[in-house]
Amino acid sequence: MQTRYVPNLTGIPETMLWTLHSRAGEAKRPDGVLKDAEALRIYGAIDYDFEKSFGRAEPSLAIRAVEMDRSIRAWLATHPDGFVVSLGEGLETQAQRLDNGRLRWLSVDLPEAVAIRERFLTPNERLMHFPVSAMDRAWMDRVDASKGVFIVAQGLFMYFEEDDVRRLIVDIAERFPGAELLFDTIPRWLSRRTLKGLHRTRAYQVPPMPWGINRDALEATLRRWAPRIRQVELKPYTFPRGFFRYGYNGLNMLPWVKERLPALVHVRFAERSV
Ligand SMILES: C[S@@+](CC[C@H](N)C(=O)[O-])C[C@H]1O[C@@H](n2cnc3c(N)ncnc32)[C@H](O)[C@@H]1O
Repeated sequence: MQTRYVPNLTGIPETMLWTLHSRAGEAKRPDGVLKDAEALRIYGAIDYDFEKSFGRAEPSLAIRAVEMDRSIRAWLATHPDGFVVSLGEGLETQAQRLDNGRLRWLSVDLPEAVAIRERFLTPNERLMHFPVSAMDRAWMDRVDASKGVFIVAQGLFMYFEEDDVRRLIVDIAERFPGAELLFDTIPRWLSRRTLKGLHRTRAYQVPPMPWGINRDALEATLRRWAPRIRQVELKPYTFPRGFFRYGYNGLNMLPWVKERLPALVHVRFAERSV
């Protein structure tokens, strides 16, 4: 039997194991909404006490991945040769799930995270890795924008300061007119909780998430930051089954509560001429 890999991660990079835990948990289920053999392969090859840190796998982060897949797949239908950038990709296998044999995909993450990714996923001329912070605009020089650009940041922006998110979005709008950007947000109350010290389990404290924003502030904030925005679409998390299907999906129908739940945000930037 092959020896399993023992990761030595802390801080934000360790959170890539949390999201993998959720996706693998969902992919394992016969009725799971996420099909991902690669996630299961990687999960099985890592020697880490996932449950001790993150508790029993629950589907919210897998649902986020499924929703994001849906948006990127729709974009690829009209941009089959397009260029996707995934910021803070960790051990996500979204490129493998969505690969149409033609797209190009640039996975950007911190050097220590890319080193772990490359233990399990070998880059090639279409599915590329770039070990650099999303804050370092060098990744933008790696993008061929001639066939369209889609940028996805799954589980990343909440770990940044608001001003860093603002500057990044402004630079993306400026550099890639006509591009699309998909990311997720947490509400302000949750951000504040993490800043005070939020434990996921007894063994695991969630890293601080300084950027929180309520859903009803999103569109106006983004448009104030980057006037070149053509459309902002907000999507809720939709739980597929069990108690949460009715409990959480019901919360999403209550106006005051809905604004204080995590959200998925799909931004379409205007072409240069607008
Ligand atoms: C919650 S994980 C999400 C990983 C992946 N997107 C997913 O959904 O499974 C956060 C990721 O952000 C990465 N990260 C943290 N700071 C970053 C930065 N400044 N630039 C790029 N990636 C960063 C971490 O290494 C980690 O892989």
